[in-house]
Amino acid sequence: MDVSSSGREDGKGIAYQPGFGNQHSSEAVPGALPIGRNSPQRAPFGLYSEQLSGTAFTEPRARNRRTWLYRIRPSAAHPPFTRIGNRALRSGPFREVEPDPNRLRWGPLPSPLEPTDFVQGLVTAGGNGDVLRREGIGIHWYAANRSMAGRVFSSSDGELLIVPQEGALLLRTELGVLEAGPGEVALVPRGVRFRVELPQGPVRGYVCENYGQPFQLPDLGPIGANGLANARDFLAPVAAFEDHQEPTEVVNKFGGNLWAAVYDHSPLDVVAWHGNHVPYVYDLRRFNVIGSISFDHPDPSVFTVLTSPSDTPGLAGVDFVVFAPRWLVGEDTFRPPYFHRNVMSEFMGLLEGAYDAKAEGFVPGGASLHNMMSAHGPDRATFERASGADLRPQKVDDGLAFMFETRWPVVPTAYALEAPHRQEGYDAVWEGLGRDFRP
Ligand SMILES: [Fe+2]
Repeated sequence: MDVSSSGREDGKGIAYQPGFGNQHSSEAVPGALPIGRNSPQRAPFGLYSEQLSGTAFTEPRARNRRTWLYRIRPSAAHPPFTRIGNRALRSGPFREVEPDPNRLRWGPLPSPLEPTDFVQGLVTAGGNGDVLRREGIGIHWYAANRSMAGRVFSSSDGELLIVPQEGALLLRTELGVLEAGPGEVALVPRGVRFRVELPQGPVRGYVCENYGQPFQLPDLGPIGANGLANARDFLAPVAAFEDHQEPTEVVNKFGGNLWAAVYDHSPLDVVAWHGNHVPYVYDLRRFNVIGSISFDHPDPSVFTVLTSPSDTPGLAGVDFVVFAPRWLVGEDTFRPPYFHRNVMSEFMGLLEGAYDAKAEGFVPGGASLHNMMSAHGPDRATFERASGADLRPQKVDDGLAFMFETRWPVVPTAYALEAPHRQEGYDAVWEGLGRDFRP
């Protein structure tokens, strides 16, 4: 029996609750959500009460995350977990290869030849920090060609920001169902179990596994009360549960490794819930892009969708940044991204079209890594074009790129350095930027 409660429809037949960080609540069976108590002596309909804490009990209210679950079986009733293979999944600390100052670029992760589900299809590009210290990130690619069947997944190591580039993902989570395709992102909190189904066939994309503080919306400062990613455009699911008495393999990423236990039922059996430790989907096309209407252009931090703060104000463990369609109107301005060297490290991906700092080579599904203080910026063709361009207002709407920008250098995996889809000779895109000094 699969049951979902009613809620706001998004046009794809899936009900959602809008709002980032809200204290959402939902019940798939009327009356299943206790009123006035989180843990009554007996929960309605013989359900078990269970709290899922995403922050320490005592963190400030503004950033405290927890959800109360009312489920058919308590999560505690399970057999021991045993180790299974990690395949190409890696975690911090990243020590397979030495940190590399070179600029790196990759074509798309090849599609798998064997039947491969989302978890089997995770391939780690690199990362930083340490899962056991709950700081840093893992950057993964994924490519899959079949739905997860008879198994669910969760990461105790971090929340998962999933960025589809090709194909749609149907996420059946403990808290309900979400769908995300190219141009959208899905955010699955630490510890939340989910199964990925592929309703439209093969998929490819990127994942930022954030070991640190949960992603939040950035403060807006002088921008004011609106702009960038608006909270109401984040969609949380409504309760939906499976009452399946069939063996289910529960895969848990813990301490950088995969563990599994076979339950005798589906753990996606939450009938009602309330709280703010919840998954979301967000359509990147709803990002309200802010930019200069005079000259120069702001630093790309103005394109931040979500930020994972650190203990230092303004210093993110990781920012998720999108280069969404926008107008360029700056006068006497070199309009593409400028040449720069950055203490932060930048991993970029391209979801569709082209990116305005590169004439060629950075292709949809591909990626680039510009590590701490490595010099980068427009390639020669872009520099020459933009330096001589007629500066009429220009709509940049032929591509959708994103960036994971992180406080620590990203150490690649051995796979990433040796991958057949790594592009040799990336440095050549800056060749020919010669001496033009004419005093
Ligand atoms: Fe950059």
